[in-house]
Amino acid sequence: MELQTDQKPVILSGVTPSGILTMGHLAGALSNWVKLQDKFECYFMIADLHAITVRQNPAELRKRTLETAAMFIAAGIDPDKSTLFIQSHVTEHAQLTWVLNTFTGMGECSRMTQFKDKSTQHSENVNVGLFDYPVLMAADILLYQADLVPVGEDQKQHLELTRNLAQRFNHNYSDTFKVPEPYIPEVGARIMSLQDPEKKMSKSDPNQGSILFLTDSDEVIKNKIKRSVTDSGSEIKFADNKAGISNLLTLMHLATKRSIKDIESDFAGKGYGDFKMAVAEAMADYLRPIRQRYEELINNKQQLTEILVRGEENARKIAAKTLRKVYKKVGFVQF
Ligand code: TYM
Repeated sequence: MELQTDQKPVILSGVTPSGILTMGHLAGALSNWVKLQDKFECYFMIADLHAITVRQNPAELRKRTLETAAMFIAAGIDPDKSTLFIQSHVTEHAQLTWVLNTFTGMGECSRMTQFKDKSTQHSENVNVGLFDYPVLMAADILLYQADLVPVGEDQKQHLELTRNLAQRFNHNYSDTFKVPEPYIPEVGARIMSLQDPEKKMSKSDPNQGSILFLTDSDEVIKNKIKRSVTDSGSEIKFADNKAGISNLLTLMHLATKRSIKDIESDFAGKGYGDFKMAVAEAMADYLRPIRQRYEELINNKQQLTEILVRGEENARKIAAKTLRKVYKKVGFVQF
């Protein structure tokens, strides 16, 4: 007979603190984390080990790590419900990565789109860590026996590798890891650049006009949206050949919670100018309270530290338990 437990299913996700967070992070990840935190046991991590696969300024990395934590809370993550922690504080992440490395083919890592993109972008520093990045990500997820991993579309390939590694390890020894499912939102899984809507909105894009940062002021948000690149047509319609307008419709949906269909009818017969003006206002209204909460939190370092220390303790309990199991299975002597 199966034991009845009241344990909630588990979620793990993370953000790499390599820049100021963007509307892409909010749409693809954070806003879903907030929705899921009542039904799941949640672990949300600031992935500083991932950040150093690209050279970082140490003082800047420390600052960004705390800013990212503050932004998680400002976006609605409740530290009394969810565990928030810094990846490097839980050493088991690096330890499990080593074991999983021995189960990962070189070919599997070299096929990763993000590795290919980043090694082109940072051709002066194609390091082993960059190559190994998806294995570290698998360790992050598998340590917590996560059922679900809420991410944007760009992380899907890494999730597939995670599932393969979990299955391979389980098959080779015996059931050890939960095989996780990706949780990718239907709308907002891929927020596009405002200047080149064929490309993902990315914090590392040198063209700042293409990115809506969560710390941008009302004026900056409105200007970026008004100057956004759209196609040559005139209809406000969600379509494959209208990447710019489709992206703005997605943003409008996220800001107002109205369906894309309803927004299309609201703007039937109206021009791009009117539509952009409305999206600009809606986006500024949507991001303002998040930014205001963020500003309060970032000025209270003591409170942030307490939350992250508590998070580390919680996270470590689970991570240590999984790692012990793994070490035993692979044949490491444990006293
Ligand atoms: P990162 O920091 O690049 O992005 C964090 C999350 O935001 C999503 N995202 C987007 N979603 C929609 N549109 C966009 N333009 C956009 N930009 C970013 C990403 O899909 C992601 O969900 N390797 C991960 C961090 C990580 C992680 C993990 C995630 C480390 N370990 C374990 C999940 C589970 C990364 O660099 O995400």
